[in-house]
Amino acid sequence: MQQIKTAFTERFEIDHPIMLAPMDKVSGGRLAAAVTRAGGLGVIGGGYGDEQWLRDAMAQAGNHPVGIGFITWSVQQQPLLIDLALSTSPVMLMVSFGDATDLVERAHRANVACCWQVHRLEQARQAIEAGADVIVVQGQEAGGHGMDRGLISLLPAVRDLAGPSQILLAAGGIADGRGLAAALMLGADGIMMGTRFWASVEADGLDSAKHQLLATRGDQTIRTKVFDIARNTAWPTHFTGRVASNAFSDQWHGNLDQLKANASAQQQRYRESDDEDYRTRVLIAGEATDMIHSIEPAAVIVESIACEAAALLNGANRFCVD
Ligand SMILES: Cc1cc2nc3c(=O)[nH]c(=O)nc-3n(C[C@H](O)[C@H](O)[C@H](O)COP(=O)(O)O)c2cc1C
Repeated sequence: MQQIKTAFTERFEIDHPIMLAPMDKVSGGRLAAAVTRAGGLGVIGGGYGDEQWLRDAMAQAGNHPVGIGFITWSVQQQPLLIDLALSTSPVMLMVSFGDATDLVERAHRANVACCWQVHRLEQARQAIEAGADVIVVQGQEAGGHGMDRGLISLLPAVRDLAGPSQILLAAGGIADGRGLAAALMLGADGIMMGTRFWASVEADGLDSAKHQLLATRGDQTIRTKVFDIARNTAWPTHFTGRVASNAFSDQWHGNLDQLKANASAQQQRYRESDDEDYRTRVLIAGEATDMIHSIEPAAVIVESIACEAAALLNGANRFCVD
């Protein structure tokens, strides 16, 4: 099989330009290790910073080289978790959602590479100035939190801004080799995927949630703040989360002021609902669900996407005529 070589695969000495997104409580040690074993780069999802969960995930990853990711605004309130993560010499510290200049410095002081996920051009400028080793450019198609820019125009704009030597990854709406090939053409050195790996055998989380993901189509996903209010998380106002819409979001999505006015009762209703009550509970899902039809081992996902992209890139000269 032909391999795709980029600045990202060279820098991290991996076989395929495919990285696992640090999905909170979904990207555990088992999934991160499986992606790394398959020749990609696995990243543990430290999320909001649950120390015991993080310790368990790091133990599960064993000796496999993996990165550790956090939600910037949240982990900045728990600096000891950064020390814990850096003490294990991860392949990278990954940070998303907020100004992470201080975290880039801390990672570099520990000789650890830092990867910063951005959602807008002005954030990319900040990440470049801070010296981030890798910048993930996330489009609004992505599952989970993010902002409002589409990947197809944001990615080449970040490449123009960053210059040729900055390592860039594309994220948002990518679930197959077509997405990887297109991302490379738009200026990326690789991709980072969340939703596709959520529907993997090794992902942490309920099987029923994975099956619910398979049944969700991209048209059913929305970007909303409903579940941040329902879960009482302190997300900065400019971030929304892409999720599968359900009865709870149908009731409140166009009605946020009323939801805020009723917050404590609705938070209780949410808390007391069953974990598997997907009419109430949030199912984080990106538009890429349209391309996901089965729950597969991470290695199958990594290898099939790399293989499909290489074939597409090889065949691309059919579009060129003399
Ligand atoms: C279930 C789920 C949980 C996520 N949790 C996090 C998180 O804790 N931290 C983070 O930086 N990004 C998180 N993300 C967003 C990813 O970093 C990434 O931007 C996104 O998954 C890429 O788009 P895709 O889902 O279309 O592949 C999450 C995404 C999903 C699907």
